[in-house]
Amino acid sequence: MNREAVIIGAGGLGREIAATIINYFPNQYHLIGFIDDGLEPGTKVNDLKIIGGLEKLLKMRIRPSIFIGLGNPKIKSTIVSKLRRGFELNIVNFPNLIHPFARLHQGDFIEIGIGNFIADSVIITTNVKIGDFNLINLTSTIGHDSYIGNYCSIMPAVNISGGAQLEDFAYVGTGVKLIKASSIGKGSIIGAGAVVNQSVGENETWAGVPARKIG
Ligand SMILES: CC(C)(COP(=O)(O)OP(=O)(O)OC[C@H]1O[C@@H](n2cnc3c(N)ncnc32)[C@H](O)[C@@H]1OP(=O)(O)O)[C@@H](O)C(=O)NCCC(=O)NCCS
Repeated sequence: MNREAVIIGAGGLGREIAATIINYFPNQYHLIGFIDDGLEPGTKVNDLKIIGGLEKLLKMRIRPSIFIGLGNPKIKSTIVSKLRRGFELNIVNFPNLIHPFARLHQGDFIEIGIGNFIADSVIITTNVKIGDFNLINLTSTIGHDSYIGNYCSIMPAVNISGGAQLEDFAYVGTGVKLIKASSIGKGSIIGAGAVVNQSVGENETWAGVPARKIG
């Protein structure tokens, strides 16, 4: 039997998650709508309704599976904390959503936590550890022995070389290449198109080819 599910955020990422669920997991989830504080309840977004904001979700009688359709790492984590506080801890259900066209080369050696979205055409090879609530967006590749913490957002077409490390809340812009086994510190941002050939500290912004600290 399929299970009721909601998506937090009706923006672009939320709608992409909806498309993945509707097209590829219709027997697993019954998508009942979006949770979005910024839109009027009842509004239709791609044929799905806005149920209401977070408060409404916390008051619902059913406990749906929850997918987080937000790209900003800090906002993701704030929302997950609110939900965990609002619901009883053990009944919040944050499934992973792995697009059927994503390729995990050696599943037995890829550890994946909860609440992750791995989009269409992502490739993850082997001996990779992925924590919770990460976004790995379209066509990105993650090489052997890499580590991705929690609440990271990896935008489309990112190439992460073997042995790289992304600490919690890292945001990696579209088309970035992490060459060498570089590490990206907690909360750091890598601008679109950057080629990173050294490790980046915490809460820094880097951009360019080769990447340099810009903030
Ligand atoms: C790096 C980034 C976060 C910086 O944003 P910001 O803090 O608002 O910075 P600004 O736009 O004010 O730019 C600051 C400087 O960095 C430069 N810069 C910004 N982004 C850059 C990038 N990706 N590559 C090279 N230089 C960049 C700007 O030209 C500017 O240079 P200047 O001071 O000489 O004029 C942002 O530009 C970026 O790349 N975000 C990722 C976007 C993305 O991948 N989206 C995914 C959509 S699916």
